[in-house]
Amino acid sequence: MERIGVIGGGLMGSGIAEVCARAGSSVIVHEINAEAAEAALGRIQKSLARAVERKKLDEAGRDDILSRIDISTEISEQSDRQLVIEAATENESLKKEIFSELDRVTGPDAILASNTSSIPITRLAAATERPGKVVGLHFFNPVPVMALVELVTTVLTDDAAATAVASYAESLGKTVIRAKDRAGFIVNMLLIPYMIGAVRMYEAGFASAEDIDTGMKLGANHPMGPLELADFVGLDTTKFVADVLFEEFKDPAYASPPLLTRMVEAGLHGRKTGRGFYDYR
Ligand code: CAA
Ligand code: NAD
Repeated sequence: MERIGVIGGGLMGSGIAEVCARAGSSVIVHEINAEAAEAALGRIQKSLARAVERKKLDEAGRDDILSRIDISTEISEQSDRQLVIEAATENESLKKEIFSELDRVTGPDAILASNTSSIPITRLAAATERPGKVVGLHFFNPVPVMALVELVTTVLTDDAAATAVASYAESLGKTVIRAKDRAGFIVNMLLIPYMIGAVRMYEAGFASAEDIDTGMKLGANHPMGPLELADFVGLDTTKFVADVLFEEFKDPAYASPPLLTRMVEAGLHGRKTGRGFYDYR
């Protein structure tokens, strides 16, 4: 796996591109337009600058990593990639379009992976003519820091493709856990009801956002409280994931609380837009 493609250079795609390039792969990140491409590069540069500041990386190392990353707005540039990791917005129809396009432009041996937080991989595999070479490869935020990757296989996945992707993820320094293909996989099936439960508690006026977060930080030793974490993940992504889980299981534990829905509609997407449960401006 020397040539990797990443679709979407947002919060997750930029982190995935960074860890792949750090491990020595050449990476082409695909973005929708020049502005988004510039923002993606800015995120990677900022993350590497932080590593240099903390003396985890020297300037030559940073330049070496950056030299292996290209950002492009032409999907055809993914044509020679051995593994393409899709990390675009959490939207099923968008992802299906991307998979169908990747199926058309990449070579027949390329493996196509999705970083989706929740969407069943079988639906994305069905948008291609190579369902055996489609897997879920779910990284966690922030990608350079979080040690876990969930590998999701479907009833159609070839063992060889799954093994190749698992070995590649391990070569990035990640621990791989395997999940079967149902909405939310392992971690989000547990994490999302916890986060939206906190939104419900706050919405009911039961406690302040600060007290809910301090409660879970100091009372359960979590690095972030649930509302701070929802802001960090993105409230849009949190809601999209809850919606996919609700559609799959019809369990009210996954129903997006009205407050979360209204905040997303209002463009309050958390840290990435400057406002969510907290103000980051
Ligand atoms: N990129 C790269 N490195 C980062 C980073 C980023 N965005 N943010 C923090 N770091 C690194 C720092 O450089 C630092 O590294 P060193 O210790 O090696 O110097 C380390 O992480 C700790 O950072 P800080 O001291 O600045 O901050 P912190 O101690 O408050 O930690 C945090 C920040 C790692 C984000 C921590 O708060 C945390 O672990 N939060 C919870 C994250 C979490 O639960 N993520 C999962 C979200 S759910 C998900 O991803 C799945 C989904 O589908 C929605
Ligand atoms: P984000 O909003 O930060 O970034 C999404 C990026 O996708 C944007 O830069 C956007 O321009 C780009 N994009 C949209 N349509 C595209 C297209 N057709 N082609 C190329 N790029 C396109 O979102 P994110 O948080 O990085 O999430 C990306 C994926 O990763 C989602 O599936 C999400 O569920 C998943 N995920 C998110 C987190 C998290 O904590 N945010 C954690 C794990 C997985």
